[in-house]
Amino acid sequence: MCGIVAVIGSREAAPLLLEGLRQLEYRGYDSAGLATIQEVEKDGLGLLSCKRAQGKLNNLSSLVEKFGSPGHLGIGHTRWATHGKPEERNAHPQRDISGEIAVVQNGIIENHRFLRKELEAEGVSFSSETDTEVIPHLIGRELKRMQSDGGVISGSLLLTAVQNVTKELTGAYALAVVWARTPEALVVARRQAPLLIGLGEGEFLCASDTPALAGFTRTILPMEDGEVALLTPLGIELYNAEGKRQQRSPSLLTGIDHVVDKRNFRHFMLKEIHEQPDTAELWVARHLPAGLPPTSPVALPFDESFYQGIEQIQILACGTSRHAGMVGAYLLEQFAGIPTSVFYASEFRYSAPPLAPNTLTIGVTQSGETADTLAALAMEFDRRKANGDPAFASRQLGITNRVESSLARQVPNILDIGAGIEVGVAATKTFLGQLLAFYALALDFAARKKSRSSDEIISLSNELRLVPNYLRSLIHRHDQLSEQLAHRFTDTQDVIFLGRGINYPIALEGALKLKEISYIHAEGYPAGEMKHGPIALIDPRVPVISIAMPGMVFEKVLSNAQEAKARDAQLIGVAPEGPATDIFDALLPLPEVSELISPLLSVVPMQLLSYHIAAHRGLDIDQPRNLAKSVTVE
Ligand code: G6P
Repeated sequence: MCGIVAVIGSREAAPLLLEGLRQLEYRGYDSAGLATIQEVEKDGLGLLSCKRAQGKLNNLSSLVEKFGSPGHLGIGHTRWATHGKPEERNAHPQRDISGEIAVVQNGIIENHRFLRKELEAEGVSFSSETDTEVIPHLIGRELKRMQSDGGVISGSLLLTAVQNVTKELTGAYALAVVWARTPEALVVARRQAPLLIGLGEGEFLCASDTPALAGFTRTILPMEDGEVALLTPLGIELYNAEGKRQQRSPSLLTGIDHVVDKRNFRHFMLKEIHEQPDTAELWVARHLPAGLPPTSPVALPFDESFYQGIEQIQILACGTSRHAGMVGAYLLEQFAGIPTSVFYASEFRYSAPPLAPNTLTIGVTQSGETADTLAALAMEFDRRKANGDPAFASRQLGITNRVESSLARQVPNILDIGAGIEVGVAATKTFLGQLLAFYALALDFAARKKSRSSDEIISLSNELRLVPNYLRSLIHRHDQLSEQLAHRFTDTQDVIFLGRGINYPIALEGALKLKEISYIHAEGYPAGEMKHGPIALIDPRVPVISIAMPGMVFEKVLSNAQEAKARDAQLIGVAPEGPATDIFDALLPLPEVSELISPLLSVVPMQLLSYHIAAHRGLDIDQPRNLAKSVTVE
């Protein structure tokens, strides 16, 4: 989703902005722009240069190359359209009528219609359909008012104008503002949308996400909700929402946070699928080291108080993370014996169930920035506090791949899936990491609550230790098989994915992956439900992909698959090889593992088949149309 980069320092800003924006490309966008300010007179008016282009970042860099964009101060933006089509005039930066103030914004200004009407009534004419455009006009109006009251042109004046204007805005936003009259001042602000300041050598930067900063500095100062900052070549002035000056020490970025290259893979998604054995290996090394006793089968970073009295669990998440949450709920209920519910975060925040005591709330978000998940967690925190829940402050857990994210600052307990940055919009290795996090929690709770015998705990732990090797052989084989199978999908318009029990969420994930990157309509269904509706869709043109793993529902799933076959569906099985599975027209074979760990493997053919179908269609796999990696608006 929209990405912001801003810089002030001694180097030319435009190349730094473009490099920063490139690191944010993976978030998803449909246009891009930047504005720089060149100082033309000492302590005087600067020249604002603004370049914007629809489409990929290369279009913007060509413009900058051709026409230049001089100055040591600048702001840049990748836009994911919310208000107004992805056209040049709606791209950011947006400017005021004087053309001296430029703003980039990530978020949604919810009262923009009201503000727009008010400004139009005062004679302001708008040049875009964006919600953002009200901001430069409001800042322009405020600066004029302050100057006529005796305010002197300075960075501080711009800061005050932004502080005053943000009070008029409702909604969530992160923004960066420059003014041609203050070529040595950059003002940034955030409310419920991420923004981090980077302290470089002789320069300060600001960005929506760490990859845009990591190439320049590893010293960062994440901005807190409601803060506004003035950045000048001399330093940073940080203020809270009440206008009180804040002093905080910066922190150091750890790990590889900048977007790494594709190595020899055609796409980041394929590379990330191939990285899954490493994700699993690292997880085993961290959480399942050999020699742990069955009474304490996993190494997790929580103290005793975290576990005390938990009687039920609720999981809040969106998209792929919700599917991981569904597998998690199955494990926590069926293995650890804890009643668990899963909610779409976007639904939960407006229709949460009645409060029940002793409930742990788990937010699952790979990016740690999904607006709905963060807001749902905040809402749950507030209502438990208001209700006098004695454990309100400690009863939240976040499962994320980004330990420096807003989530990690918001919730008291974090489980880091440690998968390394994921660039492909379609989540793959982070999904696996989220699943593994839930296996760890289920083992831990089962041991503490004694809901499973030592033998069962040891057996699941030992099986999990084998997962990295299973994945290693599986991915190599399925890469080839899926590539061959993908040719059958050239004219396919609909696909049905079936699974049951612990593999039902994997059917949902298979359908989601296919929709996201190949734009083929797909439905994931619990296999037993097929005859209550989707069966009407079946004809020889509709492939049915059925996950059938030996276990409690094996025979049932095979019978459901037969029902599809009887109606001439092309039947593709994700199942072990053997006489029972020769009903399938094509087989994506899995090793015979226990049903309980099978989602860790059955998801691989889902990912690779979607990948190869999309690749065969020549689509933009890493940045599929309309999607964003990090969904920072509601
Ligand atoms: C977007 C992405 C999905 C992701 C979802 C939730 O829709 O395209 O891949 O599953 O957001 O993201 P999160 O960062 O919260 O896991």
